[in-house]
Amino acid sequence: MTQEKLRLHAFICTNQRDPEKARECCAEKNSLNLMRKLKRAARTAGITDVRINKSGCLDNCEQGISCVVYPDGIWYTIPDDENAISRIVEHLAGGEPAEEYLMARE
Ligand code: FES
Repeated sequence: MTQEKLRLHAFICTNQRDPEKARECCAEKNSLNLMRKLKRAARTAGITDVRINKSGCLDNCEQGISCVVYPDGIWYTIPDDENAISRIVEHLAGGEPAEEYLMARE
């Protein structure tokens, strides 16, 4: 698929930080596994015009697992649970953003 045909692009932070560091990270909240589940769920839902990729730190570490969906710039905090995944997939499929998982941002 060429990039021009993508409708949405979701980035999920999978940054791993040294446990000795003061700041937490998304990887310790199982973000890589969550991204894989989200990809699988999107594929199962037949979504072909959305790309889901891992990203480095999105600088919202304390609110992670961090996800941003472009081009609209919708930010999510996604817990690693099935309800969250299915709500985000509804958004990616063309529905409204999943309000209950919008990231609280300053
Ligand atoms: S480690 Fe995920 S937003 Fe910083």
